[in-house]
Amino acid sequence: MKLLTALGVLLVLNMATSSRLVCHMTNWAQYRPSSGKFTSDNIDPFLCTHVIYAMSTINSFNELTPIEWNDDQQFTGLKRLKNINPDLKTLLSVGGTVNGISPFIAMVARAENRATFIKSSITYLRTHNFDGLNLAWEYPAHNGSPEQDKTRFTQLVSELYKAFEDDAKENKKTPLLLTANVAAFIPTIDRAYEVQKITLYLDFINVLTYDYHGHWEAATGHNSPLYSSSMDSGTHVHHNINSSISHWLVNGAPAEKLLLGFPTYGRTYHLSSSATGLGAPANGPADAGPYTRTAGFWSYYETCDYTPSANVGWIPEQQVPYATYGSSWLGYDDKRSFSSKVQYMTANNLGGAHVWTLDMDDFGGSFCSDGAYPLINHLRMSMGFPPKPTTTPAPTTTRDPIADFCRGRPNGLYENPTDKKTYFQCFQGNTYLHHCQPGLIYWDSCKCCNWP
Ligand SMILES: *[C@@H]1O[C@H](CO)[C@@H](O)[C@H](O)[C@H]1NC(C)=O
Repeated sequence: MKLLTALGVLLVLNMATSSRLVCHMTNWAQYRPSSGKFTSDNIDPFLCTHVIYAMSTINSFNELTPIEWNDDQQFTGLKRLKNINPDLKTLLSVGGTVNGISPFIAMVARAENRATFIKSSITYLRTHNFDGLNLAWEYPAHNGSPEQDKTRFTQLVSELYKAFEDDAKENKKTPLLLTANVAAFIPTIDRAYEVQKITLYLDFINVLTYDYHGHWEAATGHNSPLYSSSMDSGTHVHHNINSSISHWLVNGAPAEKLLLGFPTYGRTYHLSSSATGLGAPANGPADAGPYTRTAGFWSYYETCDYTPSANVGWIPEQQVPYATYGSSWLGYDDKRSFSSKVQYMTANNLGGAHVWTLDMDDFGGSFCSDGAYPLINHLRMSMGFPPKPTTTPAPTTTRDPIADFCRGRPNGLYENPTDKKTYFQCFQGNTYLHHCQPGLIYWDSCKCCNWP
């Protein structure tokens, strides 16, 4: 009996540590106004296991290249986060489009182009202290050569894998992580990926389980439904998480490498009749959000300003919420839908979760009266991760004197006057409580834990 209990504890611990919570940030979120402005300095170093920095691109010489003028500064911010949480892994994402065309297409077409890209990637990632690469191979297989692009992607992935291994051996370092963001629509999966082959080489695979429905359609549908709805017809019966994940699994992807996508945003419609439910007639998007300023699309923190006055409903078949107000219709995610998706993830033994994005959760806690990162913190807790070594103050709740410790103090380590076995770390005004190893106490003279 004791042994079984011990085994159970081990299994639970193992589950928590082997599962991944991968969070994307975007380098365009820095341009959102006031409280929407987001940079790597806004990241909680203990929230996610991995942070993916989106986005970099490929130049005309086939080299990995940054996009923004201040990417270097933001990379320095990521490095600071890793100094605070040495377990945090950071990855750089490459992809997107240049003039509407994926920069991958020309690069993968020739062996020497791929070699240049691979070499430049390793140098760039090592120089800027990244732990891995994320290939955002999402809209490939156009320009009329889908079969070619499909096998060329496999070639790229296998060559990257080998080069990362060689680099690790040569430089006596941990190999760089190799990951991809991949499509969720069944026809795209079939056209774009040799599933069994690429999954051999990839450390994990983020399935983009959102954008299933949006204002480009003539009737309301949810951005990220867990299951199909009885109103779905034709190919729409596959526009849900369960269909996508089942397809990846049936095609031979190992469950433990697949990460389920959790969107911290919703998609909007403008209703064109008095009907307000799922499948109601619509003609285009609702007004753009004041911070994300993109029609058809609201961040979670923008929905927090909207839902209190809206009629909020739940779609039981699809396990997701929606909200209507006037002629606006919003299909979004909340803590409840995140919990349902975590259950699905666990039941299917998936390798964890990825979030699109950190910058669309209520990262500063100033919109939703629910603390900083309410959705991702809830996700983290639902996945069974241990509590973070943080006591980040929630601006809207009553102040805890300990959480207030670092207000106005410079970054650094401080003794905890009430418990010598612990100490505070101040980082950008937030308080992080750390514990010394058993038997040791904190000494401010060395800013370290040592024998009493
Ligand atoms: C999930 O998808 C599988 C495979 O398509 C299907 O057999 C199953 O019925 C689906 N589950 C639900 C609840 O829709």
